[in-house]
Amino acid sequence: MYAIASSPGKAILFGEHFVVENQPAIAVALSLRARVKASLMDASVIRVSSRNLSMARKFAIPPSGEGDPLFPVAYSAYLVMERIGSPRGIDIEVDSSIPPGSGMGSSASVAVATIAATSYVLGAELSPEEISKLAFESEKIVHGRPSGIDNTIATFGGAIAYRKGEGFLRLNVDFSEVSLVLADTGRARNTGEFVKRVLALKEAFPNVLEPIYYAAGRLAVEAAKLMERGDWEAVGVLMNVNHGLLSAIGVSTQEIEQLVYTARRAGALGAKLTGAGGGGFIVALCRKGSENAVAKELEKISPRVIISNVSSEGVVVE
Ligand code: PMV
Repeated sequence: MYAIASSPGKAILFGEHFVVENQPAIAVALSLRARVKASLMDASVIRVSSRNLSMARKFAIPPSGEGDPLFPVAYSAYLVMERIGSPRGIDIEVDSSIPPGSGMGSSASVAVATIAATSYVLGAELSPEEISKLAFESEKIVHGRPSGIDNTIATFGGAIAYRKGEGFLRLNVDFSEVSLVLADTGRARNTGEFVKRVLALKEAFPNVLEPIYYAAGRLAVEAAKLMERGDWEAVGVLMNVNHGLLSAIGVSTQEIEQLVYTARRAGALGAKLTGAGGGGFIVALCRKGSENAVAKELEKISPRVIISNVSSEGVVVE
């Protein structure tokens, strides 16, 4: 007996970092997905293998081994067993096209797909809300203080405005006129470390940082309206402003700036870092038809460039 589930990666278009301190943020689901196959086994262990990381591990039930890259996967499967009161030997195979450590929410997508596949094979159908909630618990293992935006978009897909503690609003956006181009700095980074660094800066200079947080929140609210209206020129301008605020809080790098300016010069409507920063990817908003020219310029200085549409599909049991 087995079940397969998949879940999308994401790009944060507005509000990363500021969302950790309760400002609104906007995320979209990408066409890249994480796929997970969960099969029942007789042995009472959780076996996890990842095609992309070329790794396999066995974990006890309950699992231990924090720091192991596959531990959060085992832990996600265990959270389902705990939730439905049915510990079982299970084999989890992960196959993801979302680059890990990139800011595209690979850990949340794998957690969401693992939880959906595990619950399905154990005969319990969890609601999307429950899947997202368990994935949030699992995300806390990966980085101490997640906002919850990653597990939410990985579960529900489409475009969402998210506010920690308040939940999310589905945005009604027609993305047919635009494409996203994502370019890698080639530098992996640790989300938890950057979240801590930004929070430390805010604690050191609260009077300076609070207006920046407030501006980022206002910006996300305006951006949501402009996206729903399809005013992509203005959305691009606000992406650039948002990037400036992220630079101000210290999460940009020289490589990120180079990519962002290259994308803008090549004709993107706007470009910014996406996710925690310090490395990872930038996201450029392009009018359909101009994405190849932007991608071509970025390819000259980036080891990996991805053109993606926004996907309305959230978690799916296949
Ligand atoms: O880089 P990612 O995909 O881990 O995204 C991090 C987004 C932050 O706002 C920096 C943290 C969070 O939990 O929202």
